[in-house]
Formats: sequence, structure tokens, C-alpha cells
Amino acid sequence: MSSDEEQPSSSTSLPPESHFIGRREDIVRAGRVSRLLNGCRDVLVLHHQGQLYAMDLRCYHAGGGLQHGDIEEFNGKLCIVCPWHKYKITLAEGEGLYQAVDNPLVRPLQTEWRSKGVKQRVHQVTEVRGDVYVTLNTRSEDVESDRYQTHKYRTDSDPTRAKT
Ligand code: FES
Repeated sequence: MSSDEEQPSSSTSLPPESHFIGRREDIVRAGRVSRLLNGCRDVLVLHHQGQLYAMDLRCYHAGGGLQHGDIEEFNGKLCIVCPWHKYKITLAEGEGLYQAVDNPLVRPLQTEWRSKGVKQRVHQVTEVRGDVYVTLNTRSEDVESDRYQTHKYRTDSDPTRAKT
């Protein structure tokens, strides 16, 4: 996905196959909502510092529910921190970030933030006159979070989720 497509956009027209999520003010008030789209994809839509983002609901590592993750900045990038094992995932790209240590014998430890590449599938958010829509990212290349988009991992435990 190009950087243009990753950014939530305000528009007067909708991309094809968009799914209505809700009114912007309702999403801002809730902070985050999740939806089952097309009957097959659980997507988290969240608001942070005026921006809307959408990504697969379950973490690429082991399926943790990202709707409960904190938002923090690492290496200049806004990330959601998975509540299960604290993996960091960039909101805009779905990259997995980690702190690398090249030489564990050097004290104090010298760490550096690095990217594992895109691990979490992110989706396009479009806003039209206050209505928020998500267009699923259907690119065919595998993304690790895809594995948790099955009935096995889908539960009814999230009361904010609605089918559309
Ligand atoms: S399930 Fe998200 S960090 Fe392990």
C-alpha cells in the first residue's frame, strides 16, 4: 500500500466497496470501534490525535485484541502496543517495530529501533461529510495478521463490534 493510500482521507466521493463504520463524532467519542466487514474480516478503527486509522483487529503475533492496546510513539512513529506481549505496530503502515541490540556485551546496552516490515494489515479510511468508511486492503500478498481472520479466532467478546 502506498503512503497516500494509508492515510485516512477526507473526500467527497467514496472508493468502491467501502463499508460504513459510523459517524466521525461517535468514533472520536468511543476512541475505537471494531466491525466485522464482509462477514469475514474483523477490523479495528481508531481515532488518535485527530486521525482515523484502520487495521486488522487481532495482533499478528498471537491474536491479541488490539482494541485494548495503548497508543505510543516509538522512533517517531505512532504505534499501537498489543496488550498481550507488548509488540509495537505502526498505526499507518502496520509495521512491526522492535528494539535491536547489536552487541549484548557492551554496557550500557546500545539499542536501535528497527522494522520487521509490514506485519499487520492496515485498511483505508475515508471520511465523507462526517461519515467514516473503511475500504478493505485486499492485496493478495500475505500479511501475518491474516491468519487470525478466521472463525476460530472470532469471538463475541467485543460488545463494540457490529456486523455490516
Ligand atoms: S499477541 Fe500481540 S504481542 Fe503477542
